[in-house]
Amino acid sequence: MTISVTVDGTVTEAKPEERLVELLNRAGTKIPQVCYHPQLGPIQTCDTCMVEADGALVRACATVVRSGMLVSTKSARALAAQREAFDRILGNHMLYCTVCDNNNGNCTVHNTTKLLSVEHQKIPFQPKPFAVDSTNPFYRYDPSQCILCGRCVEACQNVQVNETLSIRWEDPQPRVLWDGGAAIGESSCVSCGHCVTVCPCNALMEKSMLGQAGFLTSIPLSALNGLIDLVKGLEPETGFSAILKVSEAEAAMRESRIRRTKTVCTYCGVGCSFDIWTKDRHILKVEPSEGPANGISTCVKGKFAWDFINSSDRLTRPLIREGGKFREASWEEALALVARRLAEIKARSGPDSLAFISSSKCTNEESYLMQKLARAVIGTNNMDNCSRYCQSPATVGLFRTVGYGGDSGSIKDIEQASLVVIIGSNTAESHPVLATRVKKAHKLRGQKLIVFDLRENEMAKRADLFLHPKPGTDLVWLSAITRYILEHGLAKTAFLDQWVNGLEEYKKSLDTFTMEFAADKCGLPVETLQEAAHLIAEAESVCMLWAMGVTQHSMGSDTSTAISNLLLVTGNYMRPGTGAYPLRGHNNVQGASDHGAMPNFLPGYQSVDDPLVRARFEAGWNVKLPTTKGLDNHEMIEAVHQGQLKGMYLFGEEISLVDSNLNFVVSGLAKLEFFVVQDIFFSDTCRFADVVLPASPSLEKEGTFTNTERRIQRLYQVFEPLPGSRPDWQIIQDVANRLGAKWNYGHPSEIYREIASLTPLFAGVTYDRLEGYKSLQWPVAADGADEPLLYTKGFNFPDRKATLFPLSYSQPSEPPNGEFDLHLNNGRLLEHFHEGTLTYRSPGIREKTPDTFVEVSPELALERGIQSGTWVQLVSRHGQVRVRALVTDRVRGKELYMPMNSTENPVNRLTSSQVDKITHTPAYKETSVQLRVLPETGENPLPRSNHRFGHPTPQMGVEVERKWKRPDYRVPGTQAAQNDATKTNPNGD
Ligand code: SF4
Ligand code: SF4
Ligand code: SF4
Ligand code: FES
Repeated sequence: MTISVTVDGTVTEAKPEERLVELLNRAGTKIPQVCYHPQLGPIQTCDTCMVEADGALVRACATVVRSGMLVSTKSARALAAQREAFDRILGNHMLYCTVCDNNNGNCTVHNTTKLLSVEHQKIPFQPKPFAVDSTNPFYRYDPSQCILCGRCVEACQNVQVNETLSIRWEDPQPRVLWDGGAAIGESSCVSCGHCVTVCPCNALMEKSMLGQAGFLTSIPLSALNGLIDLVKGLEPETGFSAILKVSEAEAAMRESRIRRTKTVCTYCGVGCSFDIWTKDRHILKVEPSEGPANGISTCVKGKFAWDFINSSDRLTRPLIREGGKFREASWEEALALVARRLAEIKARSGPDSLAFISSSKCTNEESYLMQKLARAVIGTNNMDNCSRYCQSPATVGLFRTVGYGGDSGSIKDIEQASLVVIIGSNTAESHPVLATRVKKAHKLRGQKLIVFDLRENEMAKRADLFLHPKPGTDLVWLSAITRYILEHGLAKTAFLDQWVNGLEEYKKSLDTFTMEFAADKCGLPVETLQEAAHLIAEAESVCMLWAMGVTQHSMGSDTSTAISNLLLVTGNYMRPGTGAYPLRGHNNVQGASDHGAMPNFLPGYQSVDDPLVRARFEAGWNVKLPTTKGLDNHEMIEAVHQGQLKGMYLFGEEISLVDSNLNFVVSGLAKLEFFVVQDIFFSDTCRFADVVLPASPSLEKEGTFTNTERRIQRLYQVFEPLPGSRPDWQIIQDVANRLGAKWNYGHPSEIYREIASLTPLFAGVTYDRLEGYKSLQWPVAADGADEPLLYTKGFNFPDRKATLFPLSYSQPSEPPNGEFDLHLNNGRLLEHFHEGTLTYRSPGIREKTPDTFVEVSPELALERGIQSGTWVQLVSRHGQVRVRALVTDRVRGKELYMPMNSTENPVNRLTSSQVDKITHTPAYKETSVQLRVLPETGENPLPRSNHRFGHPTPQMGVEVERKWKRPDYRVPGTQAAQNDATKTNPNGD
């Protein structure tokens, strides 16, 4: 349905409830709108969008259309108000566009000056009496250029919800404040970059832009100031239009050397996409705008952590081990050696004596080729990827109950749920942009949030209910709550009757899971568990999010299953705002598994032991395929130790740091007869290689990634591969061809064409359908129809019904005892990706977060005489590390937490070889240690500049009403404003 609105005399169709500014923008009616940003909504600080509606002056950004509304955007009154509002803005901003790094055709202040044909400024520019703040390593704030539009405040308060920024409108000269007035570098700012992204001028700018974007902006500051004065000196004579013409000519010249290329973040499973602006190999900035998963959002890694691309220690020559040392080799020699040795081992010991590990940081096409190399060329299903270390249990839980191994819906569903339950996930640090959507819905829309975690992380602090179960007991409380719901008439029986199998048998399995049993096992009060049960059962729609705090346990698959069981009993599938969301960790961990980098599945989760499936692939690939499941990562290391596995080919994976029980893993790697490692750096794992092949990172190649929402997105090549390195898909093809494969892929799109032809799950995926920012969420039918929300027509089983899966509980492995008396948890840190092999190469990140640490509770610190900075030795049954303590109430009692960001003292020296029984995912989170206090005390492992020491200033956005209450504020175009203008500018020019 539409309604009619008359705009400047023309009848125009409008959507009911839309804002006038949206209608005008869609209709192509140009009006100024400096503070308006579609993803921020109306913040109403600039007043430049004034129009007449039904005879009254209104802000178009804040006015909802009405049927029959008469709008004039060009009446004398509207134009005068727009001009007056913009004059006030120019009083806060010096126009020196030609020598400004923001003069790139998209500067809102510049473009509005032109739109309004401003020739002279009525309100003279006054610099503000505050210094430029450059204390953040990634961006700087220039108060004198700040037009006080408040977009940055709105973004920080209500999109990122870090609540660092504010404008104290009551100040004589307001400016943007960090933590109410701290230096940026000492504030709670997490450097997510939202504020910089939305700033409509050069007040907030990425440091990587400064002196780089313009032709005249790299000159020394004194000369630059001279030029600025010169430009300003011309204005009284020539007016702004002449100055703008010169600057536009300069901006057009920039087009010839600045490239903007869309890519997808390589760090985490949220799948943020953005344009990367480059000049030669220099990254000017990352500009998010219309990514389907992230819009304007990024975290510090996606926005600022790309220095590794041009790191001087990138590998550019293949390396061959000779006499215990590596020497450089030609590609020809290295590839020939790889092919010869793989062929020899296969001929001597059979195809199953070789194993292949794909990378969940690389593209779908690359995982596909790697598993094709293993299966079709070598003839083994010994093929895996690092989802084995994190996500496989969640996939099993979903396969058992609902049928697809992926998130049930999209991030938008999580945002719109009435209740979000987060279990074992430090979402704000591990999936930062996804977390912003929950924080926003919680803050602005009253979404309820329950968090179950060992640590009081940011989401726990924000939660309506935070519960801290004993380690490894999530299955118990989940099952007890489910039983309570069934017993107390709170279950969705109609849903169960229509859509779910196995209720009676499942109910029997709940016999032991009373609330009292759960209270005892989990250490949680019965009343609190009952409160959680009622919140979950009575919520309109529930999304459950979980991550490695659930999956990296010996009961990981069963606990994931218990989550899905609870969702089924409460009817929280099949509708928007509901479902199961195992948050995928790596950028493409979903895609690597989807595309067959698993020992039991060909691409699209098609079983290797299904003859019909094999027949299809055999016809497509023209080979005979192995028929039984291969070895997973965990079994591969066991098989090396047992002498069954002789050779391995691995790419983009730090197995020697990320697998558990590292001492066992590296001694296995050292036993391999032949080991090929393909990476962009000489990784820790390379130490054990016989041949190292230099690969190219995501910015140097094309392909697709699949994010946690099952969303397939294209990445485009930003840079040429660094000379000497090659994209992984080309290297894998080269190896396959030397083994006789005769592959001839000229571009990743050709690989995807083959994937789609063999895999029903991706039947309709084409590069055309993924062009630019377009994306598809699998399953994708042949006609291109995708499924952002799964199960709307039934579950992925033959009868379209889900299954309740009976479960029982067993104790976690290796619980604390008298000797190893402390529980050690571990996980990610916002600033670093995993061990930090990429992120430590960003000096700004290294400066703010230079090292790992172990979090110690205040009570344990008191008992053991530990302070922040005290060196301690953590000793487990499997190894030891030396690390500094950080005393914090994020952890409690005898529970420790160690982030992963260390290559020197990786936490996995301490973790065990215990695994989830179903998937062999290591039980990383079931580690007990003893803590020995060492005599030295160092500095606090987190420097004062780390955001964790900041003091946020939460408020409801920019709070423009406080501006309107200022004694000197007048609505532009009103008589009071006219009187003021006459006073300050009596000549009226
Ligand atoms: S957290 Fe920092 S970088 Fe992010 S929006 Fe707020 S002030 Fe800007
Ligand atoms: S710094 Fe903030 S308030 Fe100032 S111009 Fe930029 S977005 Fe607007
Ligand atoms: S790391 Fe994750 S949240 Fe951060 S920008 Fe990249 S994809 Fe987005
Ligand atoms: S765009 Fe409407 S007040 Fe700024």
